[in-house]
Amino acid sequence: MDLTGLTYVSIRRPSRHTDPQEDLNRIQEASRLNNQRLNITGVLLCTPNHYIQFLEGEEKVVMDLFAKIEKDKGHYNVKLRHSAVVDQRQFPDWAMNVVSIDSINQALYGIQDTSSDVNPYHLSSDVLFGLLSSGAKQTLIAQTEVA
Ligand SMILES: Cc1cc2nc3c(=O)[nH]c(=O)nc-3n(C[C@H](O)[C@H](O)[C@H](O)COP(=O)(O)O)c2cc1C
Repeated sequence: MDLTGLTYVSIRRPSRHTDPQEDLNRIQEASRLNNQRLNITGVLLCTPNHYIQFLEGEEKVVMDLFAKIEKDKGHYNVKLRHSAVVDQRQFPDWAMNVVSIDSINQALYGIQDTSSDVNPYHLSSDVLFGLLSSGAKQTLIAQTEVA
């Protein structure tokens, strides 16, 4: 049973809600329930206009979930950027850690400007993974500070 890690990027569809955070709450809620059951872990990074997501778990389960997510109307231009068999999980503690790029910009660079955006379609899969990891790290720091 191979453990697979997968990264994709997509464009966020403008929210039907007044508060775009509602979209993230919906994804977080679905992921919490489904991913735990499917033994899937990962990180979802949201930028003003894009999603970058890393999913890891049993190969077929990851591929099936990706096929479902791909059809979600919350985004489009879903592009698989990387998938590979991995030895161990990168994010074993998160059924899905949804993070905003604002928190990374704020923590790493002190930037509060939310109007600029990265274009993840132009970034290599290594750089994408770096962004996802720093998002995950920020969550850890935030959790430690609260505790
Ligand atoms: C960017 C994005 C990421 C998502 N990630 C997940 C995920 O990791 N796990 C999940 O179960 N659903 C995820 N979803 C939601 C699914 O597409 C789908 O709406 C949800 O799983 C439906 O759950 P249900 O079958 O329990 O109704 C994501 C949706 C979007 C737009």
